[in-house]
Amino acid sequence: MEPAADLAEAGLRLEVDGAVATVVLDRPERRNAMTFATWRGLARIGRSLPPQVRVVVLRGEGPSFSAGIDLSMFSGGSGESLPDGSDFAASDAFIAELQEGYTWLRDPRFVTVAAIHGHVIGGGFQLALACDIRVAADDVKLCMKEPALGLVPDLTGTKPLVEIVGVNRALELCLTARTVLAEEARRLGLAEIVVPREGLDDAVRELVGSLLAVNPGAAVATKRLLLEATENTLAEQCAAERREQIGRLREMAEARRQG
Ligand code: ACO
Repeated sequence: MEPAADLAEAGLRLEVDGAVATVVLDRPERRNAMTFATWRGLARIGRSLPPQVRVVVLRGEGPSFSAGIDLSMFSGGSGESLPDGSDFAASDAFIAELQEGYTWLRDPRFVTVAAIHGHVIGGGFQLALACDIRVAADDVKLCMKEPALGLVPDLTGTKPLVEIVGVNRALELCLTARTVLAEEARRLGLAEIVVPREGLDDAVRELVGSLLAVNPGAAVATKRLLLEATENTLAEQCAAERREQIGRLREMAEARRQG
């Protein structure tokens, strides 16, 4: 697993307790603003989690989940600047590497839960969108700020955003960069669960308990199946259901044989 000191350098903390890994955005004095190192650190966590981990919780230390990209990244504050795009291939590779900090959260091996509170901005909002389930505190303030800064959201967030709220609402949210509060987030499906701020940890604990109570193989197969559903035709999805179910039936039969 990743050395704690390297993660701390990237503004991250990782706690692994049996089947549950908790990734903490841990730069509260900067509202958990994220640097390139943070995204690379997230990708390394994704690659190195032990095989027993079944649920990954992401949460933020301090008053906010995350204020998005550390604004010093625009001025080379980390000794490394955003590419200027003149070399398409190099810029493409640079962004692709940062996106790896997000894509692993879709891996069917884990169910990923974002516990969000306070400000959830830009790259922070996209991190929450990369997770399977969002549990929000009632003080949550979601904002897709990138277009207001002349950018597009490029940390894997546009696909889940459109899938959740539809293209028209996604356009309105992104191009106005307005803030979505808890009640609207729940109504739009941007948060599956909304609880009072002081109840967030308990709500996440309860959810994690329920997720762990499910048969591990069924959980992996079900996430894999559901993630395919939006892309597949009905015929393809029916075939995927049959394939996954046959896998489950075989595994259950094998378990019975082994007594
Ligand atoms: N990058 C770097 N530093 C930040 C960031 C950030 N994104 N957000 C907050 N900080 C720092 C502040 O500069 C401040 O530092 P200081 O104590 O040295 O003055 C400290 O964190 C606390 O921030 P405050 O603004 O004092 O906290 P407050 O709770 O009043 O406001 C808020 C929080 C709303 C998040 C505000 O800090 C803010 O608007 N930040 C910028 C958000 C932003 O534009 N993010 C980029 C989105 S686009 C993308 O992610 C790709």
